[in-house]
Amino acid sequence: MVSSQSNPAAQRKTKVPPEGGTPNKKTISVLPGDGIGPEITTAALVVLWQVAELFDHDFDIQELPIGGAAIREYDSPLPPSTMEKILASDAVLLGAVGSPEFDHLPPAERPEAGLLQLRQALQVYANIRPVQTFPALMGRSPVRLKAPIDLVVVRELTGGIYFGEPRYRKTSAIGERYGVNTLMYSEHEIARIAQVAFQMAHHRRGKVTSVDKANVLETSQVWREIVTEIGRTHYPEIQLEHQYVDNCAMQLVLRPEQFDVILTDNMFGDILSDEAAVLAGSLGLLPSASLGDGLGLYEPIHGSAPDLAGKNQANPVGTMLSLALCLRHSFGLNTEALSVEQAVAETLAQGFRTRDIAGFRQPVGLDEFTEQVCQSLKQQAAKHILFV
Ligand code: IPM
Ligand code: MG
Repeated sequence: MVSSQSNPAAQRKTKVPPEGGTPNKKTISVLPGDGIGPEITTAALVVLWQVAELFDHDFDIQELPIGGAAIREYDSPLPPSTMEKILASDAVLLGAVGSPEFDHLPPAERPEAGLLQLRQALQVYANIRPVQTFPALMGRSPVRLKAPIDLVVVRELTGGIYFGEPRYRKTSAIGERYGVNTLMYSEHEIARIAQVAFQMAHHRRGKVTSVDKANVLETSQVWREIVTEIGRTHYPEIQLEHQYVDNCAMQLVLRPEQFDVILTDNMFGDILSDEAAVLAGSLGLLPSASLGDGLGLYEPIHGSAPDLAGKNQANPVGTMLSLALCLRHSFGLNTEALSVEQAVAETLAQGFRTRDIAGFRQPVGLDEFTEQVCQSLKQQAAKHILFV
């Protein structure tokens, strides 16, 4: 399909810049973070500049420290200067946080705390994690897939046990160490994430699987009640199913094709999305969008992989696809987002693989993979121009 919207040349002709500047110049805060974070965000930026050139856009990029990198420089995993600049920008692209160097620190001072504070400050309560198998990677799944996986995990991101108070660790009178965390969900937190999941199912295959542990936890009973009420009242056309989290973990391996939208809390979503990711071929492939009422935060679902850092071996696909989600959800650039997704699929289809998904093939480095994605983008654009 060729439209003037997907044709960079036509776009260039029709765009009239207002006086004194580029129209709608968007500022993206890029937070490389730790480990492989800097390499994979650089790779995504190379792709972004290619998109900018082909579609005649202009983006402002501001790189800001977070996580271990920020602790080393500013003694804080989320320095106020980083937060201030983020709030003045239009979207956030994050690499990864976490470094063994800070393992001895209490949770509130670790690199991960920077990311958690950021999620809460932006109130991005809805974490969307699409899981899809690329046709070229069907064979890379650790399970024998009967059909390609196509599901979305909708994870509550700013509540639950990650943020519940009280939380502390202490030593008892008899010298025994203990720790306390609190799992709490209130009605409005459950209702708003449930709405996101039902809406998403409405635009997909019409099924929500809500995952909890209602046979043991009060929070899960409230969760189940509210999700059921919202489904019944506002989304009667959506098929709603409930699963206990242990069963869901098993069902993902046994019959992943049964899932359309998985709706779950912060902790269960963290665990299940890693599981779903490897089913699709590799943890390195999955993007995520964290959305709320304001700025969107986009990041791959994997961690900082310190053992791979600086080796040109990391898989940049999760970050590139997160960039695509950013273009789509924060900037409404759907054609551009699609072209990034297609270029990644095409690069994989041509047999280019980073080490994690290489199997018996000769792997390519992160920079060669990135170069190939840019080539695919250019080829797509050339095809569109030819067909006009
Ligand atoms: C994720 C990560 C984070 C989380 C860590 C790095 C704090 O595992 O985004 O899935 O637990 O949410
Ligand atoms: Mg995780």
